[in-house]
Amino acid sequence: MCGIVGYIGKNNAIPIVVEGLQRLEYRGYDSCGVALIQDAQILIEKVTGKVNELQSALAGKQISADLAIGHTRWATHGSPTQKNAHPHLSQDGKVAVVHNGIIENYKVLKDDLTNKGYIFNSETDTEIIAALVSQMYDGNLEKAVRKALALVVGAYGIAVMHADEPEKIVCSRNGAPLIMAVGEQEYFVASDVAAVLNHSKDVIYLDNQEIGVITKDGINTLSPDDVQIDKEIHKVTFDLEEIEKSGYEHFMLKEIFSQPQTIYDAMRGRLQSSEGNVHLGGIDHVIGTILNADQRYLTACGTSWHAALIGEMMFEQFARLPSEVEYASEFRYREPLVDAKSVVFAISQSGETADTLAAIQEAKQKDATVLGICNVVGSSIARETEAGVYIHAGPEIGVASTKAFTSQVTVLSLLTLKLARMMGMSEADGIRIAAQMEKLPEDVEWVLKQADKIAEIAKIYAGATNFLYLGRGVNFPVALEGALKLKEISYIHAEGYPAAEMKHGPIALIDESMPVVAIAPQDKTYDKIISNIEEVKARNGSVIALATEGDKRIKDIADHVLYVPPALTFTAPILNVIPLQLLSYYIAVERGCDVDQPRNLAKSVTVE
Ligand code: G6P
Repeated sequence: MCGIVGYIGKNNAIPIVVEGLQRLEYRGYDSCGVALIQDAQILIEKVTGKVNELQSALAGKQISADLAIGHTRWATHGSPTQKNAHPHLSQDGKVAVVHNGIIENYKVLKDDLTNKGYIFNSETDTEIIAALVSQMYDGNLEKAVRKALALVVGAYGIAVMHADEPEKIVCSRNGAPLIMAVGEQEYFVASDVAAVLNHSKDVIYLDNQEIGVITKDGINTLSPDDVQIDKEIHKVTFDLEEIEKSGYEHFMLKEIFSQPQTIYDAMRGRLQSSEGNVHLGGIDHVIGTILNADQRYLTACGTSWHAALIGEMMFEQFARLPSEVEYASEFRYREPLVDAKSVVFAISQSGETADTLAAIQEAKQKDATVLGICNVVGSSIARETEAGVYIHAGPEIGVASTKAFTSQVTVLSLLTLKLARMMGMSEADGIRIAAQMEKLPEDVEWVLKQADKIAEIAKIYAGATNFLYLGRGVNFPVALEGALKLKEISYIHAEGYPAAEMKHGPIALIDESMPVVAIAPQDKTYDKIISNIEEVKARNGSVIALATEGDKRIKDIADHVLYVPPALTFTAPILNVIPLQLLSYYIAVERGCDVDQPRNLAKSVTVE
């Protein structure tokens, strides 16, 4: 949450920082601001709302600067007002700070300084950092930052400027992401590479409690014990085009339509179709540990948690390996029975989710083997885990996760196939499953062709206030994911249920104003789901059914039918979720909602 950008170099810093903030808006977008130094004075411009408001506010001012720091906010402490927007200034006006994260002990520190006469301007926890740095400052900003951070408990990614050292930006992180980038006579600080990709692909990942300093002459990094260190420069492998809309109205739509490619990318070089097996280089050396573990935990948040539920079901059904899913936020407080004989999979698109990182720490402390299934290369989770598998979905910008989910499930299907083969699944079965998986990109294309039909259905139901999603087996997590997508972007209340559970409560809600989305593939529970649909219709509910291509029977019962190609458990969740993604998308558009940046949400949740 919250995006940070800092720039120093040969060009005017302001447009570069503002453009960087625009690319980071997915991290938070309730208010934003920039700070720059002119004539040994810090100037600040802040607005409530999105970065284009800031751009307009700056447009008339014709200011230019060699260095600037900027921030786009997702409020934690204090409402999204102009006063609470970042950057924050110290009382003497000399220190400007942008911060992502939460300072847990800010109240104690604030009370202490207030008692000593310090006057705070905002309700934020961040302002305490500006105050502490200014109190500690004696001519060297990096030293002052280190001393200030030594007093602070919590998570942070920060960038700091001081009016007396107008050629320097100091940054640090603990638990929240921060990178530095090297351009041609220009240097950057950012919470995500997306902010700087237009200018540089050479990135340094700062580790916890390290301090980075950028000046016009280059980058310097100091270890937590204040020793100068040489950090490796990593080449970013994706292009700017991948983080642009490429003609689509929204990032979410682009990402939904990119799924044939992203699913293919998740399988490329891994699926060995002729042998009915899978090669996963990143975890080959720990595969025995996974098989022999007493227990396998899958931990995650949000959409990634739904992928984990599918993984658990597949591990158990096909590889016969006991597995358990835990919300990452619950994992550490539940005192789980994790020990050196456990394997914990942390699943995360961003690789920065604070709750998932905390679960990883908990598992590591208990000596478990911790593996990552991540999208963002070089992210904290990728680096904190012993080994893992990247899903290779490319940058996901829309706040509601779509392509990352299908790629996570693809990787979990691959992993299941590999484990199942090792646990005795026949080569013939392996080949049959691999063939279905190989066909996935083509099948996804087929499903996407129904987009116009789904848009028409969306028009009919855009006014609904509640939705129910039903599914069984691996399609139950798909029902949960369908409901979550709708909630996130259209603000319609929606719930996912195992279809048979409907009669134990939710059925009481059904009347003519309650649409029900029923996932009804022609598998062993088909007849049961048909009965559930009949139960909805008997109570005047409307049914949007997801059925297997060629199913004629369902047409006579459901109000609308969307088709997916015949699928196996390994591929069904991927194919079934796509119409649900599209349904949410078109309903949100119909309701005039901000699809890519829904209210109150952020893409990367770096606070616990
Ligand atoms: C946020 C996002 C969700 C995402 C969840 C977990 O809530 O809005 O889309 O599923 O975080 O994020 P992760 O990056 O760990 O998958």
